[in-house]
Amino acid sequence: MRAVINKVMKSAVIGLGVIGNVHLKVLNSLNKNVVAVCDTDLSKLSDFNGNKYSDYVEMIEKEKPDIVHICTPHYLHAQMIIDCLKNNINVLCEKPLCINEDDIQKILQAEKESEAQLGVVLQNRYNNSNLFVKEYLKGKKVADGFGIVDWHRNPSYYNSAFWRGKTATEGGGVLINQALHTLDILQWLIGMPEKVVANVNNFTLKDVIEVEDSAMACFSGKNKFTFFATNTGALDFPVEITIRTAEDYIKLLPEMVILNKEVIKFENQNNFFGKHCYGTGHENLIDDFYNCIEQGKKFWLDGSEGSKVMKLIFGTYKSKGEIVDI
Ligand SMILES: NC(=O)c1ccc[n+]([C@@H]2O[C@H](COP(=O)([O-])OP(=O)(O)OC[C@H]3O[C@@H](n4cnc5c(N)ncnc54)[C@H](O)[C@@H]3O)[C@@H](O)[C@H]2O)c1
Repeated sequence: MRAVINKVMKSAVIGLGVIGNVHLKVLNSLNKNVVAVCDTDLSKLSDFNGNKYSDYVEMIEKEKPDIVHICTPHYLHAQMIIDCLKNNINVLCEKPLCINEDDIQKILQAEKESEAQLGVVLQNRYNNSNLFVKEYLKGKKVADGFGIVDWHRNPSYYNSAFWRGKTATEGGGVLINQALHTLDILQWLIGMPEKVVANVNNFTLKDVIEVEDSAMACFSGKNKFTFFATNTGALDFPVEITIRTAEDYIKLLPEMVILNKEVIKFENQNNFFGKHCYGTGHENLIDDFYNCIEQGKKFWLDGSEGSKVMKLIFGTYKSKGEIVDI
């Protein structure tokens, strides 16, 4: 059992780009005490009324925050998580957990040795429609399923930040970035598969990015599903998940579930703090993480939970058309 915290906790945010500002808005709406922010681009910090840093190591040493939010490009996540955990600072990291397999083990080891907690932002697990299907499937065996992400990302999106579209800094393309959430929901609802055969390709953005704009993967083993993701679509179509059990045919869309022939709609209770495609889960996830820290309880979306979808992604990249273990 962890200690209950009876003081006002101090928070800090690293990276004040698109999603860092969503975290700040949520923290503000939850009345949290954000004492410091950090960004290597100091122009991003001008609106913040508190302590400002360009070096996160200096920030955590001087401020000694209780919780740090990591909202930086993918390639920085692993080291920043480990630095926070080594200093026994609770850390909430945006997806993806990391960009290579070796880092999963380093993060899990740091988590094990730390007195602090790691939380991973997989906010779609808080969507009412996903929670409904998770509960409905309790005690049922899923036969198979599939997921589709058909979205649109153009050259100006990729040119909007230095790290996008590069293997070394983004770690991949549509799969590790835009489609990660849907793949995570698939494995959460159906269970982890054991093998994958997959291919990824760059169909339309060859002169713009060095990573994939499309991915197709067949996951197999005790739990089976197929997954297709692309950034070449005309627009961001609603993501779709379809699941079959012996008795049921379930279609899962944002804010809607079709359970056999019944259409069930879910009202959104929360605010959209960012783009529509991020959903509204950040508010509930961040609130839940803070409540767990304050009450000394284990937060469920920890390193082990956050690493499941990473194993599916790294397996997909490794496959190159051959069946590989996950
Ligand atoms: N959960 C979601 O739905 C969701 C949505 C969007 C983005 N994200 C994730 O959030 C992360 C950031 O994405 P973004 O779109 O906000 O990117 P961004 O480029 O808009 O913001 C990143 C910020 O980090 C800063 N930064 C870079 N290196 C730094 C360093 N060493 N120290 C401190 N700051 C540094 C940059 O200057 C920039 O302001 C990514 O991991 C992305 O996948 C998650």
